[in-house]
Amino acid sequence: MLGSVLPFSPDLADRVSEYCEKHSEELPESLDKHWEWTVRTWMDAEMMSSKLQGQWMIWMSQWMAPKRVLEVGTFTGFSALAWYEGTRATNAEIITLDVRGEVLNFTRKMFKELGVDDRIRVIEGPAASMLEHVEGQFDLIFLDADKHNYQLYMNRILERRLLSPHGVVLVDNVFARGLTMGNEFNPYIEKIRRPFWEANGETLRKLNKSFLDDPRIDTLILPLFDGVTQIKWRAGYLERQEAGAAKQ
Ligand SMILES: C[S@@+](CC[C@H](N)C(=O)[O-])C[C@H]1O[C@@H](n2cnc3c(N)ncnc32)[C@H](O)[C@@H]1O
Repeated sequence: MLGSVLPFSPDLADRVSEYCEKHSEELPESLDKHWEWTVRTWMDAEMMSSKLQGQWMIWMSQWMAPKRVLEVGTFTGFSALAWYEGTRATNAEIITLDVRGEVLNFTRKMFKELGVDDRIRVIEGPAASMLEHVEGQFDLIFLDADKHNYQLYMNRILERRLLSPHGVVLVDNVFARGLTMGNEFNPYIEKIRRPFWEANGETLRKLNKSFLDDPRIDTLILPLFDGVTQIKWRAGYLERQEAGAAKQ
């Protein structure tokens, strides 16, 4: 097999996810409980990352050992909890942004109850303006919010140098359930949700091309979950900018 993606049906894909969850480092009980609570409590729980994605976040952040993490899209806090868990060794500061006050009230309360509010700071407001005010640099940035603004967020991040020189931006859902590649790529989406994902697919198609054409960054799209793009500064870009600025 020379391709990178296996052709699973929805039923088999669920079983593969379950297999991976069971054969990976276990999700801590607090995260598992929080995930289950979100599913029971929020109608739009589908927004939350999967349990396996949580296991991946913990693994990735343990390995990357970031000192600071920035997340765009908190929802009920599952992914922020995963970053917290994965950065116990580095004691990273985690800043997470979201616009939905009614969810964030629960999220903040839960962070306090779990005692993770010592390192997780929740900022409420539209990410576009919040990203104008966040200060300093981040080694790991996770974009998981409104897809049509990803380009704007990425520009803010790069222009304001919010990404540290060796940092990584992880952009979630770049497949838009498969429709980024074409509307025929996923016949299983519920009819009522199809227009939403078709619009996202179109947005993400343009975005993926624009990231690839951006001379500031190196881009890698992976068929992980609903598509994850990894972005880092292009080798030499920051040095060339600095040299140019020094000449002026
Ligand atoms: C996919 S959910 C985040 C899921 C979360 N990262 C997790 O894994 O559990 C997307 C979140 O982005 C937020 N969002 C949407 N538009 C936003 C905006 N303009 N500014 C900030 N947050 C926004 C939504 O309120 C929602 O909670």
